[in-house]
Amino acid sequence: MKIIFTIGLILLSIVSFGQIDNVVPYPAYAQIQKGRFELNAKTQIAFHQQTAMTAGYLHDYIKTFLQLDLRMSNADSVGILDNNTILLNATIKSPNNSYYQLKIDSSKIVVKGGESGVFYGVQTLIQLLNLDKKINIIPALLIQDSARMSYRGLHLDCCRHFFSKSFIKKYLDLMAHYKLNTFHWHLTDDQGWRIEIKKYPALTKTGGCRAQTLIGPYGTEKYDGKRYCGFYTQEEIKEIVAYAASRYIDVIPEIEMPGHSMAALAAYPSLGCTGGPYQTLQTWGVSDEVMCAGKDSTFLFLQDVIDEVVRLFPSPYIHIGGDECPKERWKNCEACKKRIGDEKLRDANGLQSYFVKRMEQYINSKGKKIIGWDEIMEGGLAPNATVMSWRGEAGGIEAAKQKHNVIMTPGNPLYFDHSQSLYEDSLTQGGYNSLKNVYDYDPVPKTLEISSQQYILGAQANMWTEYMDNEKKVEYMLCPRITALAEILWTPKNLKSWTRFEQAIPQQLKKLELWHYNYSKAFYDLESNINIHKGIVEWQLSSRPGSKIKYLIPNDSIVYDYQQPIPISQSGKYSAWMTDSTNRKISSMISNEFHVNKATGKNIMLKNKPHKSYANGGADALVDGIQNTMGMQKSSQFLGFWGPDLESVIDLKDTIKINSISIHAFEQAASWIYAPSAVRFYWSNDGKTFQKLDGEISKTGKRNLIYEMHSSMQARYIKVEARNFGIIPDQMPGAGNKAWLFVDEIVID
Ligand code: ACM
Ligand code: ZN
Repeated sequence: MKIIFTIGLILLSIVSFGQIDNVVPYPAYAQIQKGRFELNAKTQIAFHQQTAMTAGYLHDYIKTFLQLDLRMSNADSVGILDNNTILLNATIKSPNNSYYQLKIDSSKIVVKGGESGVFYGVQTLIQLLNLDKKINIIPALLIQDSARMSYRGLHLDCCRHFFSKSFIKKYLDLMAHYKLNTFHWHLTDDQGWRIEIKKYPALTKTGGCRAQTLIGPYGTEKYDGKRYCGFYTQEEIKEIVAYAASRYIDVIPEIEMPGHSMAALAAYPSLGCTGGPYQTLQTWGVSDEVMCAGKDSTFLFLQDVIDEVVRLFPSPYIHIGGDECPKERWKNCEACKKRIGDEKLRDANGLQSYFVKRMEQYINSKGKKIIGWDEIMEGGLAPNATVMSWRGEAGGIEAAKQKHNVIMTPGNPLYFDHSQSLYEDSLTQGGYNSLKNVYDYDPVPKTLEISSQQYILGAQANMWTEYMDNEKKVEYMLCPRITALAEILWTPKNLKSWTRFEQAIPQQLKKLELWHYNYSKAFYDLESNINIHKGIVEWQLSSRPGSKIKYLIPNDSIVYDYQQPIPISQSGKYSAWMTDSTNRKISSMISNEFHVNKATGKNIMLKNKPHKSYANGGADALVDGIQNTMGMQKSSQFLGFWGPDLESVIDLKDTIKINSISIHAFEQAASWIYAPSAVRFYWSNDGKTFQKLDGEISKTGKRNLIYEMHSSMQARYIKVEARNFGIIPDQMPGAGNKAWLFVDEIVID
């Protein structure tokens, strides 16, 4: 009996600790105590006036998921409380304070804090509940918790695709559960104007529609041929804002200016420099057509829009966009040129700064502050602006040094339109941001001086919906990465632990399923690396503890058990997957198509280093036998050079006969990736003096470009050069910036 009791105690304590470890985001302080609380049909929820809303929320939640209709009592009127009570007690006057205390003993659960703190404490309590069981045994414990960062954001682009009011609420529900407090609502862009403005009805009537939508990768001209419309009425917006407020979420509207405004120009062509006509865009990217900064009527229009916007959103912030505004039209517009002269501005960047400052002044006069993307720093930052750093962290670091508030949203790893899996098979935008990449991110840059760190208010993940045309896809891209986002924003840095977090994921996924959120199973993907070892390409795989890996090789029907890295000895498709101990498949199948050639696995040296964001596997990526055919979908297979050229030398080990040499490059102007301006091949037998090969180089393909030369020779060393396109000229996406050069496989046959 005693033994059984002891085993029982041990089991109980294991389960208990497991429960706290499963809480995401992990709390600042948590301690298991002696005893346990039983939540059952007789438990009551007691509340005060300030916590009535949160009490209703908890009551409805328990009713829906545990099928218990708990009694509610107002603690202000009933006085002393019985046992078996959950008490929600707002003790802190400042309502937006994230702090809460959750104390559970055998008779009571008490959540104390400010109004929002109590709400967060209730989310933690929900995380501790076992959703499979009607009667829940919760360990006695004490949690004292508050957020690391004050701005905990998630964005949604409703312009590239439109999402229903009910979906936005579902999105807010998940944000609230993970203690996020700011919803950045992207409401206007080139592809659609989605907010009703009563004074300008054409904004939604004309600007809310586009003729069709790009459904292929950028540049493919593959459209769906279907007219696409949608907008939110002011009544719907009020309803959503109120819904968010009931979950302590602030809604920041984004009204884009002066760029990304084709939908507005289509509705009111006089807003542009040329007067149009304009069309709501059918593709994503960057448009040269922007609002005219010379005409006063542009500003009067925007002021009218802002007047209606500020009445709908209680948030202290209005986001004014400000990103990706080409200056071509301004340079050729009489009104814009006159403005530059009259205002003694240095150039078109100065005009952008003028635009933002003038709008800031107006928005400040309405009692609101502006946020803009980091381009608003061009030509000088507006005095009170908060900067959202998306092109990496550099803009945010600079703004913090200038004592401006900053929100970090670097594309890598916080753009959730990028794939979470290297083997994503749906079309996505751009690169690869895994759950682990997100988890490892720290919003406060290491290089920032301590005195400037206070300006980093927090971070935000962005959901650009170019390739999310339905709600399930949005959820799939969001989940489970939202859990990692929550921890980097809430949990104290010293308590972050991938090991603890990773074991909490299955429980989080179970809950997402129960709540009907779609999610990516990429978390369960095999980890895959391609290495070159002693001249042989090897496919190295690893899986979760307790699982097994199976694989197939070309021209063979046997299913092999993975023991060690798979040597790639022949061309063809290799596939692998994970199984449990009963050989049941528990991951998606991942595959690689190898083309083994004379360069494969050989020693290769680079003169210039690729940029750290696209340095995947270093020089070996050029001779690993894998040719990228998926473009940015598999950006991890490219080497990317931001400015420099590719200069590489391959040592074939022996002097051998060669018939052809080729290199693969990639082109996607919208992402500033340009084809090389020249490709050259050289040969040598001593590795020192190289001779240029004069044969003709053919260039084939669109976007995926193959540069190939047929030439018979004997050689030991081959040098391949690809010249970077250089500074991007006017009229092209990214004008004035360094171009990216993207290359991957070199093939020698
Ligand atoms: C952005 O992604 N253009 C802010
Ligand atoms: Zn103009």
